Amino acid sequence: MSFTKLPESSVHGLWAARWIFILAAAGSAIGLGNIWKFPYITGMYGGGAFVMVYLLCVLFIGMPIMVAEVMMGRRARAAPINAVQKLAQESGISRRWGLLGWMGTLSGFLILSFYSMIAGWALYYVLLLAQGTFTAGTADTVKTSFDGLLANPGLMLLWHSLFMAMAIFIVARGVNAGLERATRVMMPALIVLLFALVGYAMTTGHFMDGVHFLFDVDFSKLTPQAVLVAMGHSFFTLSLGMGAIMAYGAYMPREHSIGRSVLTIAFLDTAFALLVGLAIFPIVFANGLEPASGPGLMFVTLPLAFGNLPAGALVGTVFFVLVVIAALTSAISIAEPFVAWAVEKGMSRLVAATIIGATSWFLGIFSILSFNWLAGDEYKLFGRTFFDNLDFLTTNILLPLGGLLIAVFAGWAMKETKVMKELEMKNQAVYIAWRIAVRIVAPLGILLVMLNFLGVL
Ligand code: PFF
Repeated sequence: MSFTKLPESSVHGLWAARWIFILAAAGSAIGLGNIWKFPYITGMYGGGAFVMVYLLCVLFIGMPIMVAEVMMGRRARAAPINAVQKLAQESGISRRWGLLGWMGTLSGFLILSFYSMIAGWALYYVLLLAQGTFTAGTADTVKTSFDGLLANPGLMLLWHSLFMAMAIFIVARGVNAGLERATRVMMPALIVLLFALVGYAMTTGHFMDGVHFLFDVDFSKLTPQAVLVAMGHSFFTLSLGMGAIMAYGAYMPREHSIGRSVLTIAFLDTAFALLVGLAIFPIVFANGLEPASGPGLMFVTLPLAFGNLPAGALVGTVFFVLVVIAALTSAISIAEPFVAWAVEKGMSRLVAATIIGATSWFLGIFSILSFNWLAGDEYKLFGRTFFDNLDFLTTNILLPLGGLLIAVFAGWAMKETKVMKELEMKNQAVYIAWRIAVRIVAPLGILLVMLNFLGVL
């Protein structure tokens, strides 16, 4: 690929307005990571101290890297693999940096495979709630339903397939006005229902237990692995380290402020996660459930709450529909870097999305089997199932590593004049703070957490 001047637009089009970029990026960030993952890992790693590390990572590592990703995407106006190559060329450095784009794009491919499985669970729960399955349910009955799902690979495959097909359908059509409009209705609705759930959590009599669990910091619970998982989650929940936000940045009109957009997106994502925590943990404590019960946490606590609320079946159905939509707006962004790259190589969007979706769907089958046929110890590696390993590898290793390289690329490798031109930060102090963050704080932080986990420190 040869070029002299970087493009003003992308071959995939541009977002119509700044708020649509914010909406799409927030749609990408807010997803299963907030509703399903954040509560269960917080439960597993002991609460407050874990939450604090996660918040620090969002602030000092995640947000600066998000600014870097948007800046890189918008400057190059191409899929991450091509974007990094173009920017390297523009700054006169090795095009091998393109490998960074590849690493991220492949991480996305891996993540999509299990993301779709979990979203499939949520899809199944829409049906269960609509049927009134949990009405007046107890902790035991909801748990039995969930265990039944995990023990049934055929059922999981069905819902995984359905979700993947929906995601691919949307990606294949391009991120159209229909989806953007749906997101616009969906986000406020999700937030309203979330507040309603927090309200319900307040009536359980255990609300303060939830608050203490989330916010009381006890450093003795902070193992090196907990710190790594908290950092990994800050990447996962903000959609960073794999190029999703870079791909979306490529469609962002030039005249808008990157810094302010990132601030809004990170705030929405974080507030959302904390609210979900405030809804879920009081229910956990009120019903004698185990906070460390793992990936099933949301699928047990929320149905339990809905089962005991007036009109709970209806509200619960709507809630899970919204969860599915939140997952969809994330899933499409996970697939976008790969699909956009294939389109730039000359493939049609439909073919690209279908091939990538189908292969990722196939890989997802192994995550499904991790809960039943392949759940035995003889199939485990490092004491973890295939799904646990894939999740660990992508979220806790590949995303932070991708983030580290992105920070180094934006902070050290790209010419500063180009970076400044793209960012156009009016406030010098903010620019300097960002620069220090991507050059030193973020790379060093990521490295220290990783070495600490490996036992080197
Ligand atoms: N941020 C999404 C969530 O919290 O559910 C998941 C995700 C989207 C991860 C995009 C990575 C990504 F690139």
